[in-house]
Amino acid sequence: MLTQHVRNGWYLGAWSDEIGRTLTQRWITDLPVCFYRLPDGTVAAIEDRCPHRKYPLSQGHLDDEGILQCDYHGYRFDGQGVCVGVAEQADRPKAALRRFPLVERDGAIWIWPGAPELADESLLPDTSWLTDPDWTHVHGVVPLKARHLLLLENLLDLTHETFLHPTSIGNAAVAATPIDVTVDGDRVGFSRRMVGIEAPPFYEKSCGLTSPVDRWQDGDFYPPGIFVLNIRVAATGTEEPDGFHMKVLYGMTPGRGNETHDFYALGRDYLIHDEELTKFQHEQQLAVMQEDVDALEAQEVMYATDPGGNAESSIRSDLAALRGRRAVAKMLAREQQGDSAPRTRASA
Ligand SMILES: [Fe+2]
Repeated sequence: MLTQHVRNGWYLGAWSDEIGRTLTQRWITDLPVCFYRLPDGTVAAIEDRCPHRKYPLSQGHLDDEGILQCDYHGYRFDGQGVCVGVAEQADRPKAALRRFPLVERDGAIWIWPGAPELADESLLPDTSWLTDPDWTHVHGVVPLKARHLLLLENLLDLTHETFLHPTSIGNAAVAATPIDVTVDGDRVGFSRRMVGIEAPPFYEKSCGLTSPVDRWQDGDFYPPGIFVLNIRVAATGTEEPDGFHMKVLYGMTPGRGNETHDFYALGRDYLIHDEELTKFQHEQQLAVMQEDVDALEAQEVMYATDPGGNAESSIRSDLAALRGRRAVAKMLAREQQGDSAPRTRASA
């Protein structure tokens, strides 16, 4: 299983509310990144190594004019990342910071760690529901000590809900219902239609539904690291657009080595002012994610100690995960061959 990271792609780098005037370090695809806001409010992301002697700039200082000073030997950089001098010294070295392409949209900061000329905003998924006044959501990020492909496969094969999350979102109907898989260039989608099933506890409480219910899952993987799940649940026989609608966004962002930033946002378009419901859903989301984190970290140990790769067994329900794995491998191969143009544009 691949452990190198695709860099020519968008990753969720941070939530907007995480980044202010404080210098914030986050490793992304094995690159140290320092995030901060300039005086005009725009976000900057630079490689967190001073070009002088590689001291982390995130341990430096940002002044009110947006000048960033390294706190080891005093190199100073303007908002464009150009060295404007060295504190207390007359030298003005020719040095500049590596700045990463960024898009801040709907409360999320997307970063492109690879070749800047390839960064294409049209590859980002629609996230307008994160700021749509008819929706509400919770969001955050959870640390994961496992490679990002394990998280990707976790999300593309939701049959694991049956076994790993039986007290919240899973029951036998998930694993028993086959998926349809679609591949569009690098993108992989799946859908699962569960009809007349028992309501899992989370949906019973979240929607006030009693069994039987219909439950629909539509997942879209935007490689290398973005996944969006559309969920609808309703009393059985309801037309799909009339069901309770939830969305989950996952940013699967490789960190350092085999560590991953597991970003999440869970939203809904009903009872949006019900704070109790929001609190319940957020607690459940974090509990479900912890079950996943525990499983993926246990899996990581097993993959890491089996580098020769004992052959894996796969079944029909692995199809989306295997397609996702293949999409990432193809992107990496193209990147290594110097042909890095992504093959898919996001639909609206
Ligand atoms: Fe899970």
